[in-house]
Amino acid sequence: MSVFEVKDLSLHYLTRFGQKVHAVSGVSFAMEEGEILGIAGESGCGKTTLVSGCMGLFIPPLHPTSGDVLVGGESLMNRTPEDIRENVLAKKVSMIPQGAFNALNPTRKLKNLAFDVLNSHKISGTKKELYQMVSDRFDLIGLDSKRILNSYPIQMTAGERQRSVIGISTMLNPKMVIADEPTSALDVSTQKRIIKMIFDLLDKKIFSTMMFITHELPLLRHVAHRIAIMYAGEIVEIGTTEQIVFDGRHPYTKALMSSTLSAEPGQKQQKPIALEGAPPDLAKPITGCRFADRCPVAQDDCKDTNQEIRVVGERQVRCKYAQ
Ligand SMILES: Nc1ncnc2c1ncn2[C@@H]1O[C@H](COP(=O)(O)OP(=O)(O)OP(=O)(O)O)[C@@H](O)[C@H]1O
Ligand SMILES: [Mg+2]
Repeated sequence: MSVFEVKDLSLHYLTRFGQKVHAVSGVSFAMEEGEILGIAGESGCGKTTLVSGCMGLFIPPLHPTSGDVLVGGESLMNRTPEDIRENVLAKKVSMIPQGAFNALNPTRKLKNLAFDVLNSHKISGTKKELYQMVSDRFDLIGLDSKRILNSYPIQMTAGERQRSVIGISTMLNPKMVIADEPTSALDVSTQKRIIKMIFDLLDKKIFSTMMFITHELPLLRHVAHRIAIMYAGEIVEIGTTEQIVFDGRHPYTKALMSSTLSAEPGQKQQKPIALEGAPPDLAKPITGCRFADRCPVAQDDCKDTNQEIRVVGERQVRCKYAQ
């Protein structure tokens, strides 16, 4: 059984004007224990929306349209937020969010934020035992627990805040972690340290399976086992890192790789494929391939034929002309 599975998941935002923004459409994938799945795609393609869906957190205006999310075979759909918070989040699946500053309540010291997590999951122990548990974990992740636990978020550096968020979200040893651009908005050397820390936690078996979302393909190339490429709410290609990075078959994958990886050391110099135009408006009905308007190799019929994701060799591609 897969540790985590998303089945034909579609999600939409309901705007104040009653319009539906179809931010995620027909996404499916399954993850095995120990796997690192990277998710990449340009801004606005639905990565963070997919993360919310994967956590079963449907906070209006976000709503599930159809499909299912299974954690250890158990569906997260049609459950109350309280049930999911108490029984699934932090224990089985945890998220490292896109901006640490927003994730930390500025009016509470870090130790109280950590105790909140323990209390909400009914972890029992004396105050001293619970403090010891939290401070051991903070020391393990390389933070000065005595100082940090007695600080407010504003008294910490951006890197310390992000480490603390990671420490708190993995405190109950969830099997799976979903990291949504965990290093965006940090300087390069802090980014490197945070990435190293995340992989140290994997080595220490604090968690075993990870969905890693990033704009940075060079990073994914080094850490992910498989990569899914998203475009306008859909997965357009999913395969092993090797297949996606060196032998992408979807025209969008090829364009993305040519523009982001060609400058890397050791990478064969490729001519970047320039993409004109912008992705389609997700609030309007879309017919045909969503990438057709920008695709450098689109055929006449691409604009009016919906593209199903299909197996090509050992990967899946949403383009009927991909071979
Ligand atoms: N609250 C909302 N109401 C309506 N539309 C929304 C809302 N939040 C996001 N969207 C739309 O949903 C789509 C997907 O947004 P999402 O934040 O998931 O993208 P993303 O891939 O995470 O982008 P980024 O890389 O910038 O983080 C976008 O078109 C966005 O405008
Ligand atoms: Mg996002």
